[in-house]
Amino acid sequence: YRRLRVALLGAGAVGSQVAALLRQHADELADRAGARLELAGIAVRDIDAKRDVDLPRELFTTDAESLIVGSDIVIELMGGIEPARAYLLHAINSGADIVTANKALLATHGPEIFDAADQVGAEVYYEAAAAGAIPIIRPLRDSLAGDRVQRIMGIVNGTTNYILDRMDTEGAEFADVLANAQRLGYAEADPTADVEGYDAAQKAAILASLAFHTTVPLDAVHREGITSIDRSMMDAARHAGYVIKLLAVCERLVEASGESISVRVYPALVDRKHPLASVHGANNAVFVQAEAAGNLMFYGAGAGGVQTASAVLGDVVSAARRHIAGGVGVGESTLANLPIVPIGRV
Ligand code: NDP
Ligand code: HSE
Repeated sequence: YRRLRVALLGAGAVGSQVAALLRQHADELADRAGARLELAGIAVRDIDAKRDVDLPRELFTTDAESLIVGSDIVIELMGGIEPARAYLLHAINSGADIVTANKALLATHGPEIFDAADQVGAEVYYEAAAAGAIPIIRPLRDSLAGDRVQRIMGIVNGTTNYILDRMDTEGAEFADVLANAQRLGYAEADPTADVEGYDAAQKAAILASLAFHTTVPLDAVHREGITSIDRSMMDAARHAGYVIKLLAVCERLVEASGESISVRVYPALVDRKHPLASVHGANNAVFVQAEAAGNLMFYGAGAGGVQTASAVLGDVVSAARRHIAGGVGVGESTLANLPIVPIGRV
């Protein structure tokens, strides 16, 4: 196989799992991608920081700029705006395709990053930037490209769903559950982004931009968080047959004066019989209503290091296939030739 140089920026909850899986499944990923994905290095702030998984010390560097140069694929899992933005632009201009889970960056500087990539024929992959492990970016961008999306409604933040769920089912206190969500690697580096609804608003802006083929600026998204929700409100909701969930709603509004878009994030009373009421823990669920397809439902882990690493690695394989196909087409994987289990044995 041809060798592709992969640079990883960040080895926190998600990055450390991506590095581990890249190494653990190197042969299988090479077959799928049609190229060996060589982890050239991992840029971090502190080389000696404690990691979720054991990785060779010699992979680590604090010099992201140099690591990027000569890389075919750059995976950005640092989070935040700067220096992530500068590193991604540097990667694009150095000839790399980029993979990122950074919704904060894409929701604020997406057009700048996409334009820079367009100018040099690079590709930006960001499946993990909305709803963690759930495939939702590709379905909206590709699978539904021939349809007209009318509405997206769902739970797109794992941390707040985990908090509200534990408050509802166990009578837990907000602060205790938030601390747990941080320990489990669900929360953003600054969890204000989660509990004040900024993270969900960023994801809603990204999803709405894809669904409605436009750029939805973050400041056009109505945003409310969950910090005002207390146990008494959860109890009152339960007694009335509801559960409180932080919802993201993106809608195409059709009026006599023409079409417009409404994007909003707010805590809502959800009927306990509604499927969204059964979304527990850090799971997410996204309902998409499209003119021809009708109703579609996407469900799964909305946060978590290894779960999100799945979406990131899917992007890395896509980037590798495109890279070896010379920047066009999707490339093909080698068939794994696994034995077919005879009927009746499973
Ligand atoms: P963490 O905060 O756990 O990890 C961030 C990593 O980036 C750390 O290894 C840190 O280095 C490194 N880093 C941060 N700033 C710099 C810098 N200036 N220079 C070099 N390295 C830096 O983040 P997560 O892994 O949780 O999240 C990463 C990205 O993925 C974010 O954009 C997040 O929004 C997104 N995401 C996260 C999900 C999750 O469940 N956690 C799910 C979906 C998306 P050091 O270790 O030395 O401090
Ligand atoms: N902090 C985010 C969440 C991570 O809880 O949903 C996944 O994007």
